[in-house]
Amino acid sequence: MSASLATVAYIGAIILFIMSLGGLSNPETARRGNFLGMAGMALAVFATVLGPRVTAAGIPWIVGALVVGGAIGLYAAKKVQMTQMPELVALMHSLVGLAACLVGFASYVDTSTVFPTPVEKTIHEVEIYVGILIGAVTFSGSVVAFGKLSGRIGGKPLLLPGRHLLNLAGLLVVVYFGYAFLQSHDVNAGMLPLLVMTVIALLFGIHMVMAIGGADMPVVVSMLNSYSGWAAAATGFMLSNDLLIVTGALVGSSGAILSYIMCRAMNRNFISVIAGGFGGGAPAPAAAGGAAAQPAGEVVPVSAAETAELLKEAKSVIIVPGYGMAVAQAQHTVFEITKLLRDKGVNIRFGIHPVAGRMPGHMNVLLAEAKVPYDIVLEMDEINDDFPETDVTMVIGANDIVNPAAQDDPTSPIAGMPVLEVWKAKTSIVMKRSMASGYAGVDNPLFYKENNRMLFGDAKKMLDEVLAALRA
Ligand code: TAP
Repeated sequence: MSASLATVAYIGAIILFIMSLGGLSNPETARRGNFLGMAGMALAVFATVLGPRVTAAGIPWIVGALVVGGAIGLYAAKKVQMTQMPELVALMHSLVGLAACLVGFASYVDTSTVFPTPVEKTIHEVEIYVGILIGAVTFSGSVVAFGKLSGRIGGKPLLLPGRHLLNLAGLLVVVYFGYAFLQSHDVNAGMLPLLVMTVIALLFGIHMVMAIGGADMPVVVSMLNSYSGWAAAATGFMLSNDLLIVTGALVGSSGAILSYIMCRAMNRNFISVIAGGFGGGAPAPAAAGGAAAQPAGEVVPVSAAETAELLKEAKSVIIVPGYGMAVAQAQHTVFEITKLLRDKGVNIRFGIHPVAGRMPGHMNVLLAEAKVPYDIVLEMDEINDDFPETDVTMVIGANDIVNPAAQDDPTSPIAGMPVLEVWKAKTSIVMKRSMASGYAGVDNPLFYKENNRMLFGDAKKMLDEVLAALRA
């Protein structure tokens, strides 16, 4: 493939990626968005492998790597549970960071490129230094995020004394060694500053994510997504590959926008979250064992039959799904109940919190999979004022996102996070297996409110019983 044809293919791939992002911004067009992204990636790989920069001798290696990598990816994608997706995504981000580091070191030790001027050589070395820096932070930060999201590492933030000073000192050392790196005249002399910077960047990535509490993990997930994009863009600069630069910038900027949306959803300051210290005071997240919350009053349990009675009498119902609905895979029964109540003329809608579940859009994906109509699935801001006029709210496996302590208790780790005000409805019913806390590890005063009822049990099993009682 000639260089000009490869460039045309690259432009085609970039257009497909942009259209893919456009598609992914809406549940109704997300499937098409995914398809366009896959087509863009196939075109990009095809044009790169057959392009002018790959020799015939290199193709078998690339095909071999594609087969091995593709097989591992296929296996992981088939095996992963929907609830484990954030961990898998964090692991994938770590690979992008690792790739940026490896490409950086490979570009540095490869002395075959002849630079026409010393300035171009310096620019290339800056690209290498910055690329490895971003890559190493992304790699170690994502590995720690994987550990936290999968419950292998506790959710409690690790707040080292003088941590901001430590970070500042690390930054100064990185700048100093950057200068030493650019001054070095050969690969042997430059390797030491490069290695020292890599170690500091790895430690910084670990420190940054370890300092973030369980309640702020959604921001970290999207932030590392953004970092992985910038790491890919840095790799593009090192390899002089325009497609990689543009693709990395697309991922980096869309991840940054997502982080901003997440911060707004949780009423957090982005810089403060990165600096660490928020979401503190929380015990290990539910993923790490779900410590039982301290009881703070009486709760009123109900049966599935009583729940069905309340729903039959209601004129308006709001369902608030959370992580537990995903665990129980209860979305299809939720759809059946929705259909049945809608046929009876009940105004039934869904309230979706931006950080419900364990990844952005988690609940929307599940409800779309169960064919719940999009027009009754509303964002928190669109539905929060409607709870006082609602007869029944049914909270299915959600906890933190309906916790009134976020509004009432300034000492709570989730203080200030906007929540769905389900307790303002005539009756709220919380469906969960026990009194255990949610991801942020905090007690939920909703359970003890006078108008609240607890339907204890696995969400799928309970909803099946409610459905049977509604049909009876
Ligand atoms: P959580 O607060 O984690 O609460 C989920 C509840 O579901 C748990 O209290 C659990 O109680 C219940 N549950 C688990 N399995 C169940 C089952 N089979 N049947 C019925 N209930 C079940 O979830 P949420 O309200 O969706 O809030 C999300 C939390 O995750 C927030 O703290 C958010 O910050 C965090 N987070 C979100 C993201 C993103 S991007 N969305 C990423 C990382 C972290 P039992 O054990 O008693 O059943």
